[in-house]
Amino acid sequence: MYNIELRNISKCYKNGVVALDNISFNVKNGVFGLLGHNGAGKTTLLKALVTVLKPDSGSIKVCGYDLKSQGDEVRKRIGYLPQELSMYPSLSVFDFVNYMAQIKGVYDKNQVNIALQQVEMLEFSKRKIGQLSGGMKRRVGIAQALVGNPEILVLDEPTSGLDPEERVRFRGILSRFAKDDKTIILSTHIIEDVYQVCEELAVLRKGRLFYAGASADLINHVEGKIKVIKIDNENQLFDIQKQAVVISTTYASKGLTVRIVDKNMNFPGAESVSATLEDAYVYCMGGKNDA
Ligand SMILES: Nc1ncnc2c1ncn2[C@@H]1O[C@H](COP(=O)(O)OP(=O)(O)OP(=O)(O)O)[C@@H](O)[C@H]1O
Ligand SMILES: [Mg+2]
Repeated sequence: MYNIELRNISKCYKNGVVALDNISFNVKNGVFGLLGHNGAGKTTLLKALVTVLKPDSGSIKVCGYDLKSQGDEVRKRIGYLPQELSMYPSLSVFDFVNYMAQIKGVYDKNQVNIALQQVEMLEFSKRKIGQLSGGMKRRVGIAQALVGNPEILVLDEPTSGLDPEERVRFRGILSRFAKDDKTIILSTHIIEDVYQVCEELAVLRKGRLFYAGASADLINHVEGKIKVIKIDNENQLFDIQKQAVVISTTYASKGLTVRIVDKNMNFPGAESVSATLEDAYVYCMGGKNDA
């Protein structure tokens, strides 16, 4: 059984924007990545999953419970970090997480301490939110999602703006949490965030589902077709763009290095290199990653 089942989810906002167009996929235990450019519909989808927003159509099951008829059962099992979490700057770390815990119906202060411990913020529990660094605030945000030990953790852009050290710490938090058969769904537009952690992922593109399945299978789309070509000037780049999907260009003192997906084998003599998840992702998103 899958932990999350989404079927034919659509959402059109009042202004006419179709944020989600008939999205269906399943999520099993472990860490699941939801990828897409800005405006792809990630936040809308996660809001629907945590019952903050009602889709126009479709159905969602979480741990076997139907979201529409058994919303309370679903909410009990989910911890949620919104993309923009309002925090009260004058509250202490402990008081804020405790407040969020009580909203969820968790009145055990020990649970608050456990969550703070999990994100390595226990030693700062008396510090005021307004006096934390951005990375520390994010950890507090994750702590309020973890409180009460939910079965499912929904994190909307948990790593945006984090420095490399915080990213490593974040991966540690995730892998510790994921150990006990839990499910984590996290959104990001940064493919590096899901490299090491997500066994499965979904890619949204302008409200549509572009891919859902194993990360490794996404790479298969481009394996054997990634090539690196050295050229002298940009005119040659335009020629390449007509015949292949350009993943990236690197400028050096003498000319450029172009990394391409040679879909139609137009460059048989070019140097072949092994594909990365980023190659596959940029290819899925339609080419050069300028984000
Ligand atoms: N409350 C709203 N009313 C109208 N349109 C909205 C609303 N919220 C989002 N949208 C639109 O819906 C689309 C999807 O937005 P959403 O926030 O789900 O994207 P996202 O993938 O989370 O983007 P980002 O990476 O920037 O967070 C966008 O075109 C956005 O402008
Ligand atoms: Mg978003």
